[in-house]
Amino acid sequence: MKKVTIPAIVAKKREGQPVTMLTAYDATFARLVDEAGVDIILVGDSLGMVVQGHENTLGVTLDDMIYHTRAVVRGRRHAHVVADLPFMSYQVSPEQAMQSAGRLLAEGGAESVKLEGGAELAPTVRRLVQAGIPVMGHIGLTPQSLHTLGGFVVQGKTDADAQRLLESARQLEEAGCYAIVLESIPAVVAEAISQALTIPTIGIGAGAGCDGQVLVIYDILGLDPDFKPKFVKRFAKLGEVAREAAARFVQEVRDGEFPERKHSFKSKQLSAPPRLAPDDDEEDAEVVSLYSHPI
Ligand code: KIV
Repeated sequence: MKKVTIPAIVAKKREGQPVTMLTAYDATFARLVDEAGVDIILVGDSLGMVVQGHENTLGVTLDDMIYHTRAVVRGRRHAHVVADLPFMSYQVSPEQAMQSAGRLLAEGGAESVKLEGGAELAPTVRRLVQAGIPVMGHIGLTPQSLHTLGGFVVQGKTDADAQRLLESARQLEEAGCYAIVLESIPAVVAEAISQALTIPTIGIGAGAGCDGQVLVIYDILGLDPDFKPKFVKRFAKLGEVAREAAARFVQEVRDGEFPERKHSFKSKQLSAPPRLAPDDDEEDAEVVSLYSHPI
């Protein structure tokens, strides 16, 4: 399998082939999704929720993103790796975006960056692209703006909002984005945007009319049995499998069933088990009495 490049991703749209993207946050999952043949691995700031346990993505730092991107890059062989610019690492100015994106590429090993926002970010995108940093856009439900949007709610439901999304997509393409994520917008709006652009759109909760699809890896694996939004399809139920496996470990250790002989090491060089010399015993007793001295 060949390394997936940006021109190859853009060409997929011309050739009518869907682009596939999944998130990963560590080397193990990166290797698995890479071996599965995914085109793009997204080191999403969704890691703030699924890995760090926050309620939203706002607390994720640039250092967090660099750390996880490095791990993902170590695990993948073929897929393109795009990393999210986290909240407040690019909104201040194009210069700030340059510095943050530069770190994601130079220190994290990402091959492109993703940022959330519409037409207002076109100058920032232009600046990054001119500097040789490929950019993926992200419009619709942009989780970093959840307080402005009033929560994780579907966008583009009115004519005016749909028109604004289309205009944003056009301007992001013109500024140099190589692809755009469309999150949580009506399918008919996503389809119209996809048809109006020459670069691929990658949908999440945006219907089948997009040029590609992305989902969070923990969601498709069903790692959180309690989380099942409308746009997610669970391709496995690993949450239940993992909990069951952990419960069996706990039970078998308590019952003395694990480890068995086959899980233990032997040595032909040992003549007898090691024993503490009498002096060691005394020293040990002293230490014990020292630490168990009443306070
Ligand atoms: O952070 C993320 O995982 C994302 C996807 C939901 C597109 O931005």
